[in-house]
Amino acid sequence: MSEKTSVTPYSDTDISKKVQVTSMFDKIAPYYDNLNRILSLGIDVLWRRKAIKLLKAEQPQSILDIATGTADLAIEAALVIKPKKIIAMDISANMLKIGEEKVQKKGLDQVIKLELGDSENLHYEANSFDAVMAAFGVRNFENLDKGLAEMLRVLRPGGTLMVLEFSKPRHFPLKQLFHIYFKYILPVIGKIRSKDQKAYKYLYESVQVFPDYENFTDILKKLGYAQANYHILSGGICTIYIAKK
Ligand SMILES: C[S@@+](CC[C@H](N)C(=O)[O-])C[C@H]1O[C@@H](n2cnc3c(N)ncnc32)[C@H](O)[C@@H]1O
Repeated sequence: MSEKTSVTPYSDTDISKKVQVTSMFDKIAPYYDNLNRILSLGIDVLWRRKAIKLLKAEQPQSILDIATGTADLAIEAALVIKPKKIIAMDISANMLKIGEEKVQKKGLDQVIKLELGDSENLHYEANSFDAVMAAFGVRNFENLDKGLAEMLRVLRPGGTLMVLEFSKPRHFPLKQLFHIYFKYILPVIGKIRSKDQKAYKYLYESVQVFPDYENFTDILKKLGYAQANYHILSGGICTIYIAKK
């Protein structure tokens, strides 16, 4: 029997994954940042910080932040890397609205431009960014290969891809403890705090079917990325993937 490779937030409907994901993030946008801090005990901030620290070594001056959501990764990049420009794009208008407010409040609106769009059909020219990055975004793509191929297209030759994504811890006892937390505890807190029945159950399910570690770097290599590598964070709860065009 073939392994299931894609899950959707609202499995009881035939609507496409893209439409379901957009409507889910539009719905949970007001609660998203707060829930991230609660559910990860604030560690998500450290994961983004570490990812940007790795990207800083490349000194990219033009950055595309894919699936920026409420712009946390773009803001961290603007403050730490200090590039000339960051385009922060997302398919959910409500997530972007919150991101826009945060960017303005921090006085970063000259550097970060927020744009509505679909990562699987990017409206940017080929070879136009020094770096393309995504935090907790690619897992939500309807077609992972298509989204990653688009990210490669808009990267300039020699440019850097950085992807931060959940992975599944492989070793005892974190593997077992995390599984219990992620499957049974997190969806309940998420349901209460986000007022969405399914969003945080989908989070668990989408991580289970997502190709992590070498499975992800194999996909990157197959699509034409070079030097694909990964860095494990927090015992494998999260992984940073770095590759080159
Ligand atoms: C879990 S959030 C991550 C947000 C942010 N990057 C962060 O670090 O918190 C996932 C985001 O991916 C966006 N997304 C999902 N599919 C997308 C697509 N095809 N194109 C653009 N954004 C997409 C969602 O709207 C959502 O804002």
